[in-house]
Amino acid sequence: MDISKGKIIISGGKPLVGEIPVSGMKNAAVAIVLSTILTEDKCIIENLPDISDVNLSLEILKSVGVKVTKIDKNTVEIDSTSATPGIAPYDLVSKMRASYYLIGAELGRFGRAFVGLPGGCDFGVRPIDLHIKGFEALGCEVKVDGGYIEATAKDGVLQGSSVYMDMVTVGGTINVMLAAVRAEGTTVIENAAHEPHIVDTANFLNACGADISGAGTDVIKIRGVKKLHGVTYTIIPDMIEAGTFMILAAATGGELKITNVIPKHLDSISAKLLEMGVEVEEDGDSVTVRRGKKPLTKVNVKTLPYPGFPTDMNPQICVLLALAQGMSRLTEGVWESRFRYVEELKRMGARINMNGRTAEVEGIPKLTGASVRAVDLRAGCAMVIAGLAADGITEIDEIYHIFRGYEDLIAKLQAVGADIKVVYPKSLQFNEF
Ligand code: UD1
Repeated sequence: MDISKGKIIISGGKPLVGEIPVSGMKNAAVAIVLSTILTEDKCIIENLPDISDVNLSLEILKSVGVKVTKIDKNTVEIDSTSATPGIAPYDLVSKMRASYYLIGAELGRFGRAFVGLPGGCDFGVRPIDLHIKGFEALGCEVKVDGGYIEATAKDGVLQGSSVYMDMVTVGGTINVMLAAVRAEGTTVIENAAHEPHIVDTANFLNACGADISGAGTDVIKIRGVKKLHGVTYTIIPDMIEAGTFMILAAATGGELKITNVIPKHLDSISAKLLEMGVEVEEDGDSVTVRRGKKPLTKVNVKTLPYPGFPTDMNPQICVLLALAQGMSRLTEGVWESRFRYVEELKRMGARINMNGRTAEVEGIPKLTGASVRAVDLRAGCAMVIAGLAADGITEIDEIYHIFRGYEDLIAKLQAVGADIKVVYPKSLQFNEF
């Protein structure tokens, strides 16, 4: 059944209790899957989340001659031996922001790339000027024309260089790293982003024979190597999925043991929950979040690049602020149009006033179920949290956004006591799962 035609129906108001596992990280998976092109060999990627953005990345690989074999739901063999610097179809790459990694990967392997401009969530202007500036610093000529980007290295060989990022960009940092891995000489990326998926991508490339140091700090040094080789690699857990479940436990007044996490990646989220009076307990690779009957305390949050509070947790924390006593302020420090979900949350009774890039949120004791839309991936998941915390029935439309990034979400939530299902219109025979 086509999930894009379905609706989520929630009967909310019950505390969620139990154990809930976290899947592999979407943003690491899409980068690593596309960067396998650089290896010219077979790789096995494990803990790969079965979500539409990852499956789309695998389709993109196939469109440029890569052989993809699913071993099981979360393991795939990728053989890029016979990849060609082909034209990745616009209708594939335009569906996903991270398709831009194909540019860096093709440049690194072939010295040239021809790729459709990327799509993804609509947060306003999402430029890739810093990626382009980085490719140019490595000796490439870059043209953007008719929805496509064409990049060519002089004499087919990229030259290591110094690249200063004017803004901290996750995608720009990874993309320049991919292009530089097999360049001649050394590349130094300054003002690099620190996100865990940058470190995971660098770890994957190093396991394949690359020479990258400093990933996770401001300065990344990449000494070009002639060739890479295939490996078996396991993707790290998704900190945003974990953070979403942490907020869910707090919003529903329940207790969730969230397993398969790296607690360090969750520090900024844990800190805000503790400040709000929620209990957070780390134990090895799990974290337990418990609120009980205690009221939530107001708090101010500003989203920032890692290790700051993640912008991809903005909509989810907003649901919690909407339930906290007093006036909280949530300021967006990364994307200009991240707050498009606010009108939806207000339909459920939330009291939010927008003041520039700050949401002033006056907490209320309970939200009320309503019909709402998933305006993008994380906003959609915030509607799920709001619906599960609210009294009454919530219906969420345009849910295909949610399944871009959350594996088995409905089943995982049902297993901890959520009354949630997907229904399809009668014309699609009213199937549910
Ligand atoms: C990645 C994540 C996304 C997350 C974002 C910020 C993936 C696939 N997506 O997106 O979920 O919300 O990081 O944590 O990993 N910018 C420029 N020029 C550029 C590139 C970026 O001005 O060339 C600006 C953007 O407009 C934005 C900021 O830099 O304001 C951060 O963007 P960036 O870190 O690049 O986000 P993405 O990598 O696209």
